[in-house]
Amino acid sequence: MKDNDRKKLLADNYIEMKQEGKRIAMVTAYTYYQAMAAQEAGVDIILVGDSLGMVELGYDSTVPVTMEDMMIHLKAARRGAPNTHIIIDMPFMSFNVSVEKTIENAGLLYQKGLADSVKIEGGTEYAGVINAVYKAGIPVCAHIGLTPQTSALLGGFKVQGKTLDAAKKLVDDAIAVQEAGAFMVVLEAVPASLAAIITKKLSIPTIGIGAGIDCDGQVLVFHDMLGLYKKFTPKFVKVYANLHDVMEKAIEEYVQDVKEGNFPEEKHSFTMKKDIIDKLNEII
Ligand code: KIV
Repeated sequence: MKDNDRKKLLADNYIEMKQEGKRIAMVTAYTYYQAMAAQEAGVDIILVGDSLGMVELGYDSTVPVTMEDMMIHLKAARRGAPNTHIIIDMPFMSFNVSVEKTIENAGLLYQKGLADSVKIEGGTEYAGVINAVYKAGIPVCAHIGLTPQTSALLGGFKVQGKTLDAAKKLVDDAIAVQEAGAFMVVLEAVPASLAAIITKKLSIPTIGIGAGIDCDGQVLVFHDMLGLYKKFTPKFVKVYANLHDVMEKAIEEYVQDVKEGNFPEEKHSFTMKKDIIDKLNEII
C-alpha cells in the first residue's frame, strides 16, 4: 500500500487508537530506504531504535551506541518517511547522567533530528526523567520489561516479570511512566498474561515485543522480521522474508557474471559515434 500522502499521527492519536480498539503497527527503521519502505507499507509508527548498534553497526549490544549514531540514522529515516511519526531511542548515558543533560539530548533529537518523540528505557526509577522531558514539551514513549541497555543487571536477555514481586514491579513501572506523562509504553519480553493485565490497567497504549497478543500494538526489529540479521533471532520474532539469503544469492550471481565476462551486457553500456573512435585510434 502506497501511503505517502497521509497525515502524520501525533501522540494523542495513538491514545485515541487504543480507546477505539485499533491495533498499532510499529517497526524499526534506521536508514532512508528502510524508513521509506516502512512508510509505503503503511506502518503507524517508526522506531529508530538503538538496536541499530547491533543490526546496522555490528556491536554486540546497544550500550556503545552514541547520540551521534542516533542523530545520523534519525535524520536519514526522517528523509525517508516524512509523513510518519518517528520515535527515536535515547541511547545509553544520554538520559542517565542528569535531568538537564537528558532534556538537552532529547531537545537535540526532537529539534535538530526532527523526531516526533523520544523513547526512554526504564520504569519507576526514570519516572522523574520522563516527566522532565514531557514538561519540556517533548512526547515520551517509555520502555519497560527487558531493557536492553541495562540487560547486564537483568540477568541478560531474559523474559521479565515472572515472579510475583517482579510482576508487581512491572505493573508499578507501567503506572509510574504513565503518570510521568509517557504517551505510550513498550513492553519487551514480558509474559503475555502479565502484558494483558498492564494493557488493561493503562490508558496509554502498550506496544509489545515478545509480550503477547493483548498489547495495543506490536513492534518488530526491521532486520529480524525481514531475515537480515543472521546472528540471532529471538523466539518472539515472526520472520516475514529471508532477505539476507536473497541478497547473498544475488551478489553471488553478480560475482559469477563478472568473473565469467557476462556482465555488463550491451544494454548496460554507453555508445558513441564510430568515426570519433576511429579518429581517436589514429591519434593515439
Ligand atoms: O531499539 C529497539 O529496536 C527497541 C525495540 C526492541 C523496541 O527498543
